[in-house]
Amino acid sequence: MSKPEILLIVSGSIAAYKAAALASQLVQDGYAVQTVLTAGGRHFVGEATLEGLTGRPVLTDLFESGRAMDHISLVEAADLVLVYPATANTITRLRAGLADDLPGCLFLANNFHKPWWIAPAMNSNMFAHPAVAEAIEALEQWGCRVLPSGEGRLACGATGPGRVAEPEEVATLIAEAFA
Ligand SMILES: Cc1cc2nc3c(=O)[nH]c(=O)nc-3n(C[C@H](O)[C@H](O)[C@H](O)COP(=O)(O)O)c2cc1C
Repeated sequence: MSKPEILLIVSGSIAAYKAAALASQLVQDGYAVQTVLTAGGRHFVGEATLEGLTGRPVLTDLFESGRAMDHISLVEAADLVLVYPATANTITRLRAGLADDLPGCLFLANNFHKPWWIAPAMNSNMFAHPAVAEAIEALEQWGCRVLPSGEGRLACGATGPGRVAEPEEVATLIAEAFA
């Protein structure tokens, strides 16, 4: 039996290092994991790390030669798409339907045929800002599953909501979804 396919989109949060732990866990749990790094995500986690953990090249460029149809085919191949961590920028871009990068095209091409999950990760004030809060609400209404973000110490030193769901929690939710 072929392995379930997880399309893991990693955006540019300080919590992006946790995506490496999540990718590792998912591979150990028997999933095939394809990673996409946003422009911001490339500043936070190395492509060699994600490629080494998943055994697949990390995709970053909408216009990469030889991979022109990735912006459609990646969601066709996926059983579940997960944006982990999801930045304020990526969330509001998805809400706006912007399609000038690989994640934005994938979001529109998916059109909710496959489950699309989002794990917000940001400073509490960013999380509470109406631009972000309304985007999260809209994405949820459209059919995204927004994973609960925890409260706790944030990288900025503050304590409050906006902390990304832990990799183990997300791996458990995925296992439940495929059970
Ligand atoms: C050190 C550092 C940490 C950051 N952490 C976050 C974060 O946790 N959440 C967030 O929404 N933005 C964060 N940002 C801002 C994003 O990296 C920035 O908005 C970026 O454009 C996001 O790009 P992306 O959505 O394409 O990945 C951080 C920026 C820096 C410099």
